[in-house]
Amino acid sequence: MPIHRLLYRSDVHLLGTEASIRQQIAEIVRASEVRNAAHDLTGALLHTRGVFVQALEGPLPAVEATFERICCDLRHRRVELLEFVHAEARIFGEWSMAGIRADRTIQKLFPCLGGEEESPEPASAQATIGLMRSLLVTGSSDGSAPPKISPVSAS
Ligand SMILES: Cc1cc2nc3c(=O)[nH]c(=O)nc-3n(C[C@H](O)[C@H](O)[C@H](O)COP(=O)(O)O)c2cc1C
Repeated sequence: MPIHRLLYRSDVHLLGTEASIRQQIAEIVRASEVRNAAHDLTGALLHTRGVFVQALEGPLPAVEATFERICCDLRHRRVELLEFVHAEARIFGEWSMAGIRADRTIQKLFPCLGGEEESPEPASAQATIGLMRSLLVTGSSDGSAPPKISPVSAS
C-alpha cells in the first residue's frame, strides 16, 4: 500500500507547570498511539521548548483526516507543514506514535525545530526526520528514559 508522510511544526499552547505540561503531552501521545494504531498510522511527536514537531505516516486518507483534526486542535498554534511526500517505506514503522523530548542543545543544532521567534526551515525536513529517528534509537536528548515503543502491524 502506498504510504504518505508529513512533517509539521507548531507552537505548544498548553497551560500549567512544566510537570503538568509534560503530563498533558504524555496524554496526547497516549491517545494518539491508540487512535493511530487503529488507522495504520505511525509516527513521532517531538517536543522541545515551546515547539512540537510531528511526523505522521500511513495511507493518504488516514494521514489527511488525522492532520485535519490536529490542525484544529487548540493545544497548539501556528501549525506549519514542513513536508508532505509519498514515501517508499515507513521511517517510524515501530511506533504508532512515539513521544520524544529534546533539549535546548538539539533545538539549536537543528534550526528547523524553531524557537518561538524563529521561522522553521523547510529545507531541513529530512534532517529533522533523521534526528527524530535517531533520538528514538538512542533515547531522548535530555537523558530521560527512552520513549515507550508502540508496535503496530506492518503494512
Ligand atoms: C501536537 C498534537 C499532536 C497530535 N497527534 C495526533 C495523532 O497523531 N493522532 C491523533 O489521532 N490525534 C492526534 N492529536 C489529537 C487530535 O488533535 C484530536 O484531538 C484527536 O484526534 C481527537 O479528535 P476528535 O475530538 O475530533 O475526535 C494530536 C494533538 C496535538 C495537539
